[in-house]
Amino acid sequence: MKTKGFIFDLDGVIVDTAKYHFLAWKNLANSLDFDFTETQNEQLKGVSRVESLKKILAWGNKTVSDAKFQELMTLKNTEYLEFIDNMDESEILPDVPKVLDYLIDENQGIALGSASKNARRILEKVHLLPKFQSIVDGNDVSKAKPDPEVFLNAATALNIKPEDCVVFEDSVAGVQAANTANMISIGIGSQDVLYEADYVFKDFTEISTEFLNKIINN
Ligand code: BG6
Ligand code: MG
Repeated sequence: MKTKGFIFDLDGVIVDTAKYHFLAWKNLANSLDFDFTETQNEQLKGVSRVESLKKILAWGNKTVSDAKFQELMTLKNTEYLEFIDNMDESEILPDVPKVLDYLIDENQGIALGSASKNARRILEKVHLLPKFQSIVDGNDVSKAKPDPEVFLNAATALNIKPEDCVVFEDSVAGVQAANTANMISIGIGSQDVLYEADYVFKDFTEISTEFLNKIINN
């Protein structure tokens, strides 16, 4: 059996945290007297915290000092973490543990490749941390997706060549990062949005062991 590296994005792939990011960003925007919509939130998928705040302030036509910017980043994250601290296993997206356990049984490399600086905390809350051999998150990279840095670091951590790695991603930027890294990209979400991916599935319930075997043995 060949060993491939399977790299999972976190937000939108393992757990649906987009709703918590949305609530925290919306409250922040409202406190600055403008609104923030679900459509705008969609555009922040896979986007780092600092880039997200820059975009939100631009949408609201606000310019702030560097000190205020830092204060807003902290405010948003403090509120976001209140939601995170109430998370448990029930928030893991369908069939994620099944796929992880199958890949572990098949001796495949498993890593996390996320833009989030809260990744470890979230994996701990949903009790999935022990399933990952390596974690590469927002604390470990200097360039955000679509730059491939996060996935290339994950491949290095697994000691598996990039071309033998497979990435599960729900964001366009993440799919592009995986493609640039020369990895197989698997989009989780809608084909209309993630058409640049090598494969797209609505969620993990659509991913069969036959499909995983095909990827492992290719
Ligand atoms: C990504 C999310 O995974 O992580 C983005 O899709 C988020 O919405 C980014 O902004 C950074 O997350 P955090 O937890 O470091 O603020
Ligand atoms: Mg994501």
